[in-house]
Amino acid sequence: MGPRTSWPRTAPGTVEGVRTVQDTWSTDRIVAALYDTAVQRPVTAWLGARVLWGFDFGVIDEEIRRLGELPAGTRVLDLPTGGGLALKTLRPDHGLDYVAADLSTEMLDRAASRASSRALTGVRFAEADASALEFADDAFDVVLSLTGLHCFAEPAAALAEFRRVLRPGGELRLTTVVRGAGRRHDDAVRLLRGLGVFGHVGTPEDLGRWLDEAGFRHVDRSQSGALAIVRATA
Ligand SMILES: C[S@@+](CC[C@H](N)C(=O)[O-])C[C@H]1O[C@@H](n2cnc3c(N)ncnc32)[C@H](O)[C@@H]1O
Repeated sequence: MGPRTSWPRTAPGTVEGVRTVQDTWSTDRIVAALYDTAVQRPVTAWLGARVLWGFDFGVIDEEIRRLGELPAGTRVLDLPTGGGLALKTLRPDHGLDYVAADLSTEMLDRAASRASSRALTGVRFAEADASALEFADDAFDVVLSLTGLHCFAEPAAALAEFRRVLRPGGELRLTTVVRGAGRRHDDAVRLLRGLGVFGHVGTPEDLGRWLDEAGFRHVDRSQSGALAIVRATA
């Protein structure tokens, strides 16, 4: 496990006195702990995915399993890593060049402690805002973004950043909640936006447009309940 890099954060759209979604994730350790505790336990993860969003958590497990197939030396950006959900597939000798990044220091602490307990090497942790990344152009072969884009204040800017830091031909693997999949799901989106946990949640059409505008090619999109699953080439 490598050292933690700390970069300055931007807080676009911050309004004085109003709690933004960035405020929630960067300062609220309880929200982070609640989410991470639920998502790391199979029963609550599967139940939450099914009841709130109508999707099969197997979709996420499959993305995590595919990480395990990447060859040694692959440069991976996992953003937002949260409490390190995706790390569970990595082996101590895997040899990936892996950056686990998130806005939340609570989440990063949790991810780092999991990596440490599994003796993972080659994983670096970085505090980062998805909409203004400090990584160089073409720095990664794969960007993995699991169930996070809907928590970002500026998803289009984040996708543009993902495209910029991917090398040409690199791969985006993303899942995100979208609007318009049903009343129950849209009500949950409204509630979580009101609580400052969700950011700008797009429709499938918004997502397609943001990916196009970011310059992704060969975009493959599918949907399970309110969860969009994207594979795209930079
Ligand atoms: C729903 S959690 C998903 C985390 C992880 N991928 C998982 O599936 O467990 C959303 C994460 O997005 C992070 N986040 C929110 N806004 C962010 C931003 N602007 N830049 C980077 N991370 C952000 C939060 O701190 C949180 O860890």
